[in-house]
Amino acid sequence: MPNYILAIDQGTTSSRAIVFDIKGQPIATGQEEFTQHYPNNGWVEHDANDIWQSTLRSCQQAIKDANIGSDDLLGIGITNQRETTILWDRESGEPIANAIVWQDRRTSDYCQQLRAQGHEQSIQEKTGLLLDPYFSASKIRWLLDSIPGARAKADAGQLAFGTVDSFLLWKLTDGQEHSTDATNASRTMLFNIHEQCWDKDLLQLFDIPESLLPEVKDCAAEFGLCNPSLFGKEIPILGIAGDQQAALIGQACFEPGMAKSTYGTGCFFMLNTGEQALDSHNRLLTTVAYRLNGQAYYALEGSIFIAGAAIQWLRDGLHLISDAAETEALAKQTDSDHGVYLVPAFTGLGAPYWDPEARGALFGLTRDTGIKELVTAGLESVCYQTKDLQKAMEADGQRPVNLRVDGGMTKNNWVLQKLADILGATIDRPSCVETTALGAAYLVALQGGVFSSTDDICQLWQLDRRFDPQLSKHERDRRYQGWQDAVNRVRSS
Ligand code: G3P
Repeated sequence: MPNYILAIDQGTTSSRAIVFDIKGQPIATGQEEFTQHYPNNGWVEHDANDIWQSTLRSCQQAIKDANIGSDDLLGIGITNQRETTILWDRESGEPIANAIVWQDRRTSDYCQQLRAQGHEQSIQEKTGLLLDPYFSASKIRWLLDSIPGARAKADAGQLAFGTVDSFLLWKLTDGQEHSTDATNASRTMLFNIHEQCWDKDLLQLFDIPESLLPEVKDCAAEFGLCNPSLFGKEIPILGIAGDQQAALIGQACFEPGMAKSTYGTGCFFMLNTGEQALDSHNRLLTTVAYRLNGQAYYALEGSIFIAGAAIQWLRDGLHLISDAAETEALAKQTDSDHGVYLVPAFTGLGAPYWDPEARGALFGLTRDTGIKELVTAGLESVCYQTKDLQKAMEADGQRPVNLRVDGGMTKNNWVLQKLADILGATIDRPSCVETTALGAAYLVALQGGVFSSTDDICQLWQLDRRFDPQLSKHERDRRYQGWQDAVNRVRSS
């Protein structure tokens, strides 16, 4: 049996591919950043061909650096930035416009209209989502109405819609497969998460023809064979999951009550609720955590739009640092009671506020505020936003025993200690923080027969370091109060 797995992790700012061995050890990585397009205030786009080409090159690089041949690969797993919306021509395979990225706010007025018409409750009941431009449905509608000729082509069955996984699958299989998995489908706002099917009423509401949509499969499934010209051989694609769900799998959070928080561009806190889709009364999302052997498992999710992106802004926008790795040393030199708050609402606020019109702000500046205080406030903003999500989960009756964290920022020990202090909870960092790609690889191992069940994944999870809270409750509450005051001042309503 082949001993390696290729996991594609197509993220918001870069495409990555990692070759893992079948025990989940990373062997080699290929990675490429690609251009972000901001054509208007609040708009964020990607060129879908950039997404594909950077992914392909990353895969080729990872295979080369792993020094393996395509015969050594058991299969390919795909995990991806979710919700980002692509429409392409079925005949040519060419996208009809740039991908509209999950962060894009252009459909915020339209979502507001739907809310005013009273549609939010039924949408939430069916999809588990809240009426926000974040999700794909309003983006698809915008493309159909705004790109000349798009609606007529869609009505004639000539266009395909996909989230990034689906587009990559189409490209990998040379147009043979138009499928997605239940986790990605659950982020479109067109998928009934209880019945596990596309919802006809929602398609009608958003005026989207069903012929656009991909087939929805389990996360571990036969997704087709990649075109042999790409890697020298037909390699089966055996797993797909949205990146946050893949991280939940990579973190082995398979029991109800287990939770993970991933710090990438944004931060996504997910708590497994098992076979039960829990309704949130505190503006969290109910979403498909994974679907295996036809059984859907659910999660409560809190989505924050800006986490690592705040540090990127400090680096590339303000030029206060030249590398994210500098932040830990700067934070250590900062007086812990510095009083500066950064609210990074650059693309509005996500959970639990859902305020697309809010914008970022800095508070508490004094004459001696300097680079280290601003950088520290950036790092702390990530912790305070996670606290907002923790409180919403608690109000929904859910408190995870401890929180497993992953993503680039979790290499920063100062951030994780601060997170433990602000949450008043134990934080566990696993030995492999590449859990998103790892989750996609594990799906391949499940489908490829290397693992017999998710228990095998649980056996492989290893703790690197545990962070226990050290701050008094009084201090924690006082500082969090300062954050809440700051957030209230940027909210639009
Ligand atoms: O929902 C958006 C999310 O999937 C994006 O993840 O890792 O690119 O920040 P990331």
